[in-house]
Amino acid sequence: PRIVILAGGLSHERDVSLRSGRRVAGALRSTGADVTVHDVDADLVPALLDAQPDLVWPLLHGASGEDGSVRDVLALLGLPTVGTGPRESRVAWSKPIAKTVVARAGISTPDFVTLPQSLFRELGASRVLDAVTARLGLPLVVKPSRGGSALGVSLVTEAASLPRAMVQCFAYGDTALIEQAVLGTELAVSVVDLGDGLQALPAVEIVTDGPYDYDARYNPGRTEYFAPARLTPDVAGRAGAVAVAAHEALGLRHLSRTDLIVRPDGSVAFLEVNVAPGMTETSLLPQSAEAAGHELGALYRALVETALR
Ligand code: DAL
Ligand code: MG
Repeated sequence: PRIVILAGGLSHERDVSLRSGRRVAGALRSTGADVTVHDVDADLVPALLDAQPDLVWPLLHGASGEDGSVRDVLALLGLPTVGTGPRESRVAWSKPIAKTVVARAGISTPDFVTLPQSLFRELGASRVLDAVTARLGLPLVVKPSRGGSALGVSLVTEAASLPRAMVQCFAYGDTALIEQAVLGTELAVSVVDLGDGLQALPAVEIVTDGPYDYDARYNPGRTEYFAPARLTPDVAGRAGAVAVAAHEALGLRHLSRTDLIVRPDGSVAFLEVNVAPGMTETSLLPQSAEAAGHELGALYRALVETALR
């Protein structure tokens, strides 16, 4: 098949997306597929009309890539795509909305509030601090309600560092998600549909010296990964079940990655789901797939075939 991969774009995660696009393109070419990588710009529609692909795989991370807007264009053009549709992408891209949807499906997710920047300005840092800590306690995690690759994310262990965390967050988005921090084992569970139902790939465990931030994610050697994660079969099963349940509750398609924390008591907390999980050399889905014995070219080809059905 003739495949166009969309990568790049103008989000904060542009570089990550270009790396994901190159990796997936290389793996698919090894299966004999005809693959072009298109850096998304204003020429998107003419470029697609010109290329006449059988299928488009948007590997765009961040806003416009994951918020469904590029997928709206692909739907208008009637092009088959790998991944989640526009409407469901939009829901999953908003962390507070996604948390609300999965919580209704019975999945545990840390308690949270959202705060628009305009309200933060109006109330002032000290009133916000009082209200938020009265409701959620400490420690907290502050993150842009829409965003990726940990950009603008801070762990707040003492009240005095909340204002600074808000400022960092608002550099990346105009609404903050403030949630109770769950301290435990950080996991990512990828879910794929290879044509015969959803399957959870082995959980990957993330171990870092400091926060699992942008540098820790994309500089090889900065983070230690255990794939599969060092979990009891019981906890591993629970983590896989939560990822599949979140994928289903949010109406996702073909592939996703759910980020989770295992609490010290073995229960699993949902943090977020990614409709366009990173596919770089240090990313989690590819590591998990390889741990499950998949050859990446064959796996990506199987996702393409599933999407073409
Ligand atoms: N937002 C990055 C690409 C990820 O979730 O892997
Ligand atoms: Mg994410």
